[in-house]
Amino acid sequence: MKVCRRETFNAAHRLFNPTFDDAKNQAIFGKCNNPNYHGHNYALLVCVDGPIDPETGYVIDLKILADIIDEEVHNPFDHKNLNLDCPEFENIIPTAENIAVVIWNKIRKRLDSSYELELTLWETERNSVFYNGK
Ligand code: NI
Repeated sequence: MKVCRRETFNAAHRLFNPTFDDAKNQAIFGKCNNPNYHGHNYALLVCVDGPIDPETGYVIDLKILADIIDEEVHNPFDHKNLNLDCPEFENIIPTAENIAVVIWNKIRKRLDSSYELELTLWETERNSVFYNGK
């Protein structure tokens, strides 16, 4: 059984690799390399997979999952510049792929190991990434 919680956050970022020169960054990242940053309305679906607890009828109390997402994702990332404000991305290019891995690792640490965790992160209406730890 899989239960899911959807959350949204708004954040700015710039995609560039400091080991590349300007021309190479521009060639690879294009508009996303804008030095003045740009923003996205991210949507996140976090799914927890496990058995239904016969005593509660829950896989996990979604209030608990909501609180974890607030603490690990919404509070630290919402209305932030991921490159400048968030130490998680100090040495990681904040692509949707890397944001998903960072979020997965943060939530994973907060969940009982008996649960499986997977998430989908939408950077735009049309572009999403899925991560389940592999
Ligand atoms: Ni972008």
